[in-house]
Amino acid sequence: VMTDRGSASWRAPSNIALVKYWGKYEGQIPANPSLSFTLSASHTTTTTHFRKQSGTASFPTFDLLFEGKVKADFNPKVRSFFERIIPYSPWLKDFHLEINTENSFPHSSGIASSASSMAALSLCVLEMERLLYPSMTDDVFLRKASFLARLGSGSACRSVEGPLVSWGQHEKISAGSDLFGTVYRGSVHEVFRDYRDTILLVHKGQKTVSSTAGHSLMKDHHYAKQRFSQAHSNLSLLLDVLENGDLEGFARIVESEALSLHAMMMTSIPYYLLMKPNTLAIIEKIWEFRKETEESLCFTLDAGANVHLLYPANREDKVLQFIKNELVAYCQKGQYICDQSGQGAKKL
Ligand code: PMV
Repeated sequence: VMTDRGSASWRAPSNIALVKYWGKYEGQIPANPSLSFTLSASHTTTTTHFRKQSGTASFPTFDLLFEGKVKADFNPKVRSFFERIIPYSPWLKDFHLEINTENSFPHSSGIASSASSMAALSLCVLEMERLLYPSMTDDVFLRKASFLARLGSGSACRSVEGPLVSWGQHEKISAGSDLFGTVYRGSVHEVFRDYRDTILLVHKGQKTVSSTAGHSLMKDHHYAKQRFSQAHSNLSLLLDVLENGDLEGFARIVESEALSLHAMMMTSIPYYLLMKPNTLAIIEKIWEFRKETEESLCFTLDAGANVHLLYPANREDKVLQFIKNELVAYCQKGQYICDQSGQGAKKL
């Protein structure tokens, strides 16, 4: 039986997609399957204090503090998140929540916080739900947390567990679902068990076009059908590469996915660009470096200008040297974040 008041605290990481989710149907159903590395250093910590509202309520009330301060511009996002999840967790409407949230990475660094923040908030909600239904198994807990996170921000459903999570149906992933992320349980070569992601901060400003707008531009996109089928086949190829440890194959697929994502933006109506000149300068440097040294590093991009450098942990010394010598010059204020693949969210 649920107490009238209490608190829940979770930390959830960001994630970086290797095969990208871009385009969705009604109800946050992805147009194609995706697969990501769960990250570790880039995360959101959320603590929720809750108490029962007096009388009968039709909607939860909440106060939101971001890094200890009231941040009213986040309220509509949280409100519409609650609207979407109330049908699945109707008990929530009787409560008042005080939500305290903070990110490990600098605000508006161009690192998307929607995945980590929606995952952390969903886990807090589920923690409350577990008090109400104490017989809930861990499996159900994680699955429903991912399900709710998806309703907040699609890619957030891949931020609950780790280190490799898929979302969406694919013939080679039997556990795959459109409704929540699942840990990829297929065989994974040793080289991919400890992977680094160094995030080069190229541009810290607000995105000119939101991901929500980007997804909806896929609806009438000239290349939508081709893109969704490309994602399917790239995921197929990637699963083979993950099994056999082919780092060149990995780079080919992952870089193709990043550039295809941005190609969709450049060919939608209206068209737009999220890459910056320094994004391209970094990509060319990476290709040069790879040609010269045969080091196994590759890049990927999110819906933004920052560059994620992916490489095996044992290449770290070489790659960090390269970053310091050649790439830092293209980063805003010389900033980059050292992250790595991780195990998923943690209860605090
Ligand atoms: O979760 P959203 O709706 O913000 O979509 C983001 C999608 C990408 O980050 C661009 C790709 C992905 O699969 O994470």
